[in-house]
Amino acid sequence: MLLLLPSAPVEGGELCLMRSVLISLQRVQAASFTKQESLDLPPGARPALYCSNKCTLRDWCRLWCAYPSNTPTHCLISNIIVMPTYQETNMADVLTCHTTRPKDLATHANITAGKQYMSHPLRVKENLVDGFYNYDINQCLYTVWSNSDRWITLDFGQPKCFQHVILYAQESSSAGQLFNNVQVRVSNVTAVTPPADFASYDLFGEFPGAASPGQEVEMKSPKPVCARFVTGHMLYDHPFQVCHIEVF
Ligand SMILES: *[C@@H]1O[C@H](CO)[C@@H](O)[C@H](O)[C@H]1NC(C)=O
Ligand SMILES: *[C@@H]1O[C@H](CO)[C@@H](O)[C@H](O)[C@H]1NC(C)=O
Repeated sequence: MLLLLPSAPVEGGELCLMRSVLISLQRVQAASFTKQESLDLPPGARPALYCSNKCTLRDWCRLWCAYPSNTPTHCLISNIIVMPTYQETNMADVLTCHTTRPKDLATHANITAGKQYMSHPLRVKENLVDGFYNYDINQCLYTVWSNSDRWITLDFGQPKCFQHVILYAQESSSAGQLFNNVQVRVSNVTAVTPPADFASYDLFGEFPGAASPGQEVEMKSPKPVCARFVTGHMLYDHPFQVCHIEVF
């Protein structure tokens, strides 16, 4: 379901697109790394209009929920990232919320990556394709310090077209070391040895600098690009840590 609502009354009645998504209320509320606010719904207010408007007025808002679900009395407004195709596993207190994030190809893509640190067992590649990021470092991928392991590959199964790749660096100050000089490449070719053969893939975008904490590195192609594989490869000599990816 798509919800089209006028955004803040600015130039030309620009439309702000929000998409519905099912998520556990407790999962949204429990995230101690997020910014959030709970507002009372005034008597007679229409929940969708009131809550989406409050979300639009806060530049950090990425999700809103009117709750409890049958007769909402509150709006929960959060910067948590929930992709429209996120699949909730905890259905006990599931709620229809609305996300500002676009429908994307990274969510539920198959992912391969360089070796991950055994000492950080939660920071696995699957975190990058689960459609959820709450700014907790344990929602990131962390690869070992080795030339052959600073990479990820998303596989969409067949060529898909997109124009944007967004990579999120970690929130803490090591972002500059662990997300630095990253190239994104695309290809349809299956038989490659990563990361050595990535040089033969087409360059989609590159981020030469050191990331600042929580930096969202957006790469945009002037025209849609179609490819089955998208790779992220860090050239800087350090372990690689990336926390969320969107491809759309
Ligand atoms: C991911 O891999 C599994 C197992 O190889 C396959 O069945 C599935 O179709 C793949 N999905 C995509 C999106 O490529
Ligand atoms: C991948 O294949 C599709 C069509 O099958 C084509 O349009 C696209 O340009 C190819 N992409 C690359 C990076 O070669």
